[in-house]
Formats: sequence, structure tokens, C-alpha cells
Amino acid sequence: MSKQAIGIFDSGVGGTSIWRELNALLPHENTIYLADSKYAPYGNKSKEEIIALSKKNTELLLDKGCKLIVVACNTATTNAVQHLRENYNVPFIGIEPAIKPAALNTKTKNIGILATKGTLSSELFHKTTDLFTNDIQVIEQVGEGIVPLIENGNVDSKEMKALLQVYLKPMLDANIDYLVLGCTHYPYLIPQLLEILPSHVKIIDSGEAVAKQTKAVLRQHELLNNTTNKPKLQFYSNGNPKVMSQLLGEGFEVDYLDF
Ligand code: DGL
Repeated sequence: MSKQAIGIFDSGVGGTSIWRELNALLPHENTIYLADSKYAPYGNKSKEEIIALSKKNTELLLDKGCKLIVVACNTATTNAVQHLRENYNVPFIGIEPAIKPAALNTKTKNIGILATKGTLSSELFHKTTDLFTNDIQVIEQVGEGIVPLIENGNVDSKEMKALLQVYLKPMLDANIDYLVLGCTHYPYLIPQLLEILPSHVKIIDSGEAVAKQTKAVLRQHELLNNTTNKPKLQFYSNGNPKVMSQLLGEGFEVDYLDF
């Protein structure tokens, strides 16, 4: 079983930012990544729709024999991970916005979070945020329109810059010193964000923490692949595989799969 792949899914190409961290920390693990781009964005869908899509992705990964599933999507985690854990018999790793480290380290007592509507309106997000932000102002901003631009390959575009400027303004006016990226698509925007943010504002996401948690859970279940073989890295998209190939860079093949 330990040689079986880690399954990873996202509403699209964004979860590859998580896959990168996983692959860096666990370089011998086989991985199967599903980009559900045909149904992106998840962010404006109802909880029921997000659960149904997450089940579809999970079942495909289980059919392919995955030993553990990483829900590389904040929106799917905050709306569906509990349902998945209750209904399928493999470990699930979820991803939630990194509110805790931002709240613990902020000096200005103001932090910003950019995420989807689905994440910001979820019960799980509010529970976690309330736990850590007693004396802290959290400026929440829905990143409306960002995911479709990334899914269409327009990361570095005028439209993207204009959106980011509008979304960050209230945060900068409120004197934030931490910006939490609460969507796995957003780490691809770091170069653009750095152009807008003053240098004292730190950007944080949850990628590294998710990779560490995945390793710990694999170890706990005795599922770590201890071989030193070159891993099999499979990427499937039900959208345009070219967009994902471009984000991954050279050396990775992305196959179209209708699911
Ligand atoms: N990558 C997903 C997330 O982390 C994207 C959301 C979407 O599809 O709207 O929330």
C-alpha cells in the first residue's frame, strides 16, 4: 500500500502550488493530481455542489488506488472535508487559510485575508478565525474573478493587476502587516502582489504546513514510501491541459481526462 500514490485534487490548476511543496518534501512519493477545471471556480458554488464535486474527485482517485488524499483547495476543505472523512476510508489532508500564524505574529493587529466566497462564508473558517483573532482585526476580501483568470492562463495580465489593486486597497488602508492567501491558486500571484504591497507586509500561505502534515499522517499510518525510486507523477485536467503544463514548467506531462 505504501507504494500507492498520494491523490491530490483542486477545482483546477491552483492546487499545483500545494503539489510542489509535497513533491519537495516527499520526493519519492508517487502522486496523482486532478484539476477539476471544467467545474471551476468552486468558490461561488453551494456547499452541496462543492460536496458533490469533491466526492466525484475522491472516487476517481480511490479508483486509481490512492492511499491518502490531499484536498488541495481551501473551498473544498472548508465545505466538504468533514463529509469526505465520514464517508471514505482513507486519510484526508485538508487545507485552511493560515490565519493562526498571521494572528500570532502581527504587530499592527490587522491582518488581511484573500479567499473565495465559499471559504470566507464557511463555518469551519469562522470557527478557526474566532479561535485566534480575539484582539485582531481581520480584513476579509473575496477574490472574485481571480480564479477564472488563472484558469485561462492570464496570471500576469492587466486585468489581474487591476483586480488585485482594488482588493488590497482596504487592507492597506487598515494597516495590515500580514496577507493570508486563502486559496491555493493565489501563490501564483506572489510576484504581482509584491509589486503592490509595501515591503513590511508579509505574505503567507499554507503549502508548507500541508506538506508537513501529509508526511506526519503518512508516517502515522505506516504509509510512507521508503523507496528511493524516481516517482510516477501523474497530472490530469478536465479543462485545458496546456494551462497546467505552463504553470508546472518543463518536464511534466498533463493529460486530458473527462471526469
Ligand atoms: N483553489 C481553490 C481554493 O483553494 C479555488 C477556488 C475556486 O475554484 O473558486 O479555494
